[in-house]
Amino acid sequence: MTEAAVKATELEKSFGEGAARTYAIRGISFEAYFGEMLYFVGPSGSGKTTLLSMISGILKPDSGVVKVEGKDIWGLSANEIADFRLNKVGFVFQDYHLFPKLSTVENVAIPLILKKQDWERSLETAMEFLEVVGLTDRASLPPVKLSGGEQQRVAIARAIVSRPDILIFDEPTASLDGLTGKRILEFVKENILNDKRCILIVTHDSRIFEFADRIIGMEDGRIVKITSGGEIEG
Ligand SMILES: Nc1ncnc2c1ncn2[C@@H]1O[C@H](COP(=O)(O)OP(=O)(O)OP(=O)(O)O)[C@@H](O)[C@H]1O
Ligand SMILES: [Mg+2]
Repeated sequence: MTEAAVKATELEKSFGEGAARTYAIRGISFEAYFGEMLYFVGPSGSGKTTLLSMISGILKPDSGVVKVEGKDIWGLSANEIADFRLNKVGFVFQDYHLFPKLSTVENVAIPLILKKQDWERSLETAMEFLEVVGLTDRASLPPVKLSGGEQQRVAIARAIVSRPDILIFDEPTASLDGLTGKRILEFVKENILNDKRCILIVTHDSRIFEFADRIIGMEDGRIVKITSGGEIEG
């Protein structure tokens, strides 16, 4: 059997102390596979962002294990975790987090600069990825000159420029109109997903359910339902 891209086992996470303690994640296990687009859906506060932060090496669980490509990421040293975040995962935030003072192509080049690649070469590679998301002609503009959908594509280009195996989107369509949201997800499924990559998506948006291979339903820090391919209705 092929190794899971991500294997989470009995994850738990709470915040705060005493009476103010919130149990955000209460025993979650799942596997995600290469070539798969896996969605996480559930009401606000059900723990979706917390869960994916633990998968991407941003937030340490109180207990449980996260294996990415068989490696226990929370058993790594601080340096190794930083390396993992830079090289193995790409995170696309809800509000893009683009740098307003940098041009579009410079925004995309940032992860390469962080990896201490030569500036000129980083910009060349960033241009290649802007081509993947169809924005070559916007390269020299600042992000504020781009539409919401274009900014989202810049964020995607920046997330994939270092060729991560695991790509995580938190509410990718939250601030987009329905048609733009669908186009972006269609684009991601056709151009970004491949058999060596796994994409995890948090969403409330049933208009993009049609692109999911499986949907994990969450409530109150737990998985309540897993729906696969054929059963999904948009
Ligand atoms: N840093 C934090 N400190 C305290 N409580 C937190 C923190 N992060 C999350 N929580 C709590 O954990 C629970 C899960 O939050 P989380 O952000 O994971 O939910 P979510 O499913 O992503 O919600 P939304 O759909 O609104 O983004 C919530 O009750 C939230 O208030
Ligand atoms: Mg969230």
